[in-house]
Amino acid sequence: MMISTTMNAKLNDQIGAEFAAAHAYLAMACDFDRMALKALAKRFLKQHDEECEHAMKILHYVQEVGGTVSLDAIAKPKKDYKNMEAIVSTALQNELDITAKINDLMTLAESEKDYATRSFLQWFVDEQVEEVSSMTDLLNIVKLAGENMLQVESLVRHQMLAEKS
Ligand code: FEO
Repeated sequence: MMISTTMNAKLNDQIGAEFAAAHAYLAMACDFDRMALKALAKRFLKQHDEECEHAMKILHYVQEVGGTVSLDAIAKPKKDYKNMEAIVSTALQNELDITAKINDLMTLAESEKDYATRSFLQWFVDEQVEEVSSMTDLLNIVKLAGENMLQVESLVRHQMLAEKS
């Protein structure tokens, strides 16, 4: 195997963390859908799909370097949020937590002189910059809009249409 047993275990933890993040986004998407905020629901569903891709990317890497994939239970997502701001601020906190975990993995890779894993993780380091930034933007917009959820919904719809074109 090309990675240490410690790294193997930590990568398995990260697979679990990415699936937990996916699960949390899915629950949030369902909350938005229930509020008839379809664009926000779609945006969070897209985040769910991306987190699943992250988990699978790590899973395939573990297989590729001869490690053992070990899957754990996925934590039950939080529910009964007070309002939209509480949902988005939890999503941002989740992204910050994932970023911290990726940084810890990077530190481990460097301390073990595991340059293959360090190189693999660089994509995640860059991805987290983008994810934290876009969720911070969304939280700021939600705060600016106050109680006006429809304003946020309309902005997110426009952003998604712009991304498509
Ligand atoms: Fe895969 Fe958004 O962390």
